[in-house]
Amino acid sequence: MEVILAEHAGFCFGVTRAVDEVYKQVEEKEGRQIYTFGPIIHNETVVSDLEKKGVKVIESEADLPEIGNGILIIRSHGIRKEIHEKIEKLGIEYIDSTCPFVKRIHNIVEKESAAGKTIIVVGSAKHPEVDGIVSYATGPVYVVESPEDATKLNLPEGTEICIVSQTTFNTNKFQETVDKFSDSRYNVNVVNTICSATEERQTEADRIAGQVDAMIVIGGAHSSNSRKLYEICSKKCANTYFIQTLDDLHLELPKAVKLVGITAGASTPKNIIEEVQKYVRTII
Ligand code: F3S
Repeated sequence: MEVILAEHAGFCFGVTRAVDEVYKQVEEKEGRQIYTFGPIIHNETVVSDLEKKGVKVIESEADLPEIGNGILIIRSHGIRKEIHEKIEKLGIEYIDSTCPFVKRIHNIVEKESAAGKTIIVVGSAKHPEVDGIVSYATGPVYVVESPEDATKLNLPEGTEICIVSQTTFNTNKFQETVDKFSDSRYNVNVVNTICSATEERQTEADRIAGQVDAMIVIGGAHSSNSRKLYEICSKKCANTYFIQTLDDLHLELPKAVKLVGITAGASTPKNIIEEVQKYVRTII
């Protein structure tokens, strides 16, 4: 089988930075308990490897006091503002691995909201990154997930709006959603905060999916950027498969399939991509 492997498959800069930080702390701070706020990435293999090394995951603000003398690492998605403040107040030692691209959105939302703008975040309301972003607004803030949501939002005429996006949102869908606001009677300021790693990954996946007979997207079940890649690829290639690891790959490809494309979400480690690639090359 011939394979086209996406160049932009796998860990992005922000995820690499956060994961490396956890491994570094485990090595350097022997004897100290290392915690992460939520799983460091949406990848069970990496999370369970860290668990074996003693890293604990705390899930909520209520668990913060248990950290005591431990060290807390904030993942690349970031956290809610008030949780950050509580960590400081409790005097917990922490390392902030919030991706700088996410931090930039926090700053925009904080500034524009303080200036009286209504904030619109285009993204998945349930995603922890969006939950964090929303918390930086001090005035009205709405999350919209689609152009349909945007149409339903009926704000007073002339409302001053600042629109930002979740870093991993689909570029085309973001534009379609923004258009619903721009066509209307609001005063709109748009900041496209989709990170370039996501854009490049999505554009490349779209291009490859258009060329191949089958497409494999590797990513964590809870990884929204991986699911979006799957969405994009499915539109171009009917034989698109979503897998987490090589174990999920029970491919019974149609006979006509000669060329397979592979891409992976931001939280997929290189070794998993390699394994899948090697395996697919051996299918005859
Ligand atoms: Fe950061 Fe973009 Fe990755 S926002 S965490 S570099 S997908």
